[in-house]
Amino acid sequence: MAIDSPAAAGAGTQARLISKNYNLFYLDTGKIYRYIGLLKINKKDKFSYNLVKSKISRIKLNVLKNKVLLTNEVAQSASKIAKDKKIRDIVHKFQQNCAYNPPKKYKGSVLDGRDIITVQMKDAMFKFYITANLKVRAKRRFYEYQNLKIKISYNEVLKSLRNRDKLDKERKYGPLKKTKDSILINTSKLSKKASFKKIKAIMDKKINN
Ligand code: C5P
Repeated sequence: MAIDSPAAAGAGTQARLISKNYNLFYLDTGKIYRYIGLLKINKKDKFSYNLVKSKISRIKLNVLKNKVLLTNEVAQSASKIAKDKKIRDIVHKFQQNCAYNPPKKYKGSVLDGRDIITVQMKDAMFKFYITANLKVRAKRRFYEYQNLKIKISYNEVLKSLRNRDKLDKERKYGPLKKTKDSILINTSKLSKKASFKKIKAIMDKKINN
């Protein structure tokens, strides 16, 4: 299953619910770019393609749970490095493995990100484009930051999401866009539960047909 979405539209939450319900391996691909974005911040001058390649080849999925990856600073850095074709190619290989060779205990996989339908899993059985309006997304992300005790103003979050939307949609390689064959889910006025109900109904209909 493939999901594309702008930041903070609820795709991660839905992907997690779907993965549990259908026993699918879940990969939040944004976390890989965030991991590389953090590497860029920490390593500064020592940052190189070889470093990224060697780190990604040895990466343990547990490191993607590191809370520091959730910060706005890391998100911005991720969006900048994600423009780079060579970085995307390194990440692509890793993602392909997760998508098409998930651990045996799972029935399949669900990946969410920006280029999952357009590049990574063009042949996915299910394709969803999940979105919500910018202010709703900013509010949700702002509350998430508050819960995590990350200090940032609502306006800063709004500005940052607007900036990332622009970078992610206008870049040359793997830009975020909705394909004709993906199903649009707008979560602006939907709760997590209502969004999941909607997605599940669509999936079950296809599975049972
Ligand atoms: O989804 P998340 O907000 O964690 O993603 C962080 C950044 O990583 C995005 O703004 C985007 O630039 C990049 N990304 C990407 N392709 C993906 C997933 C994320 O370019 N498949």
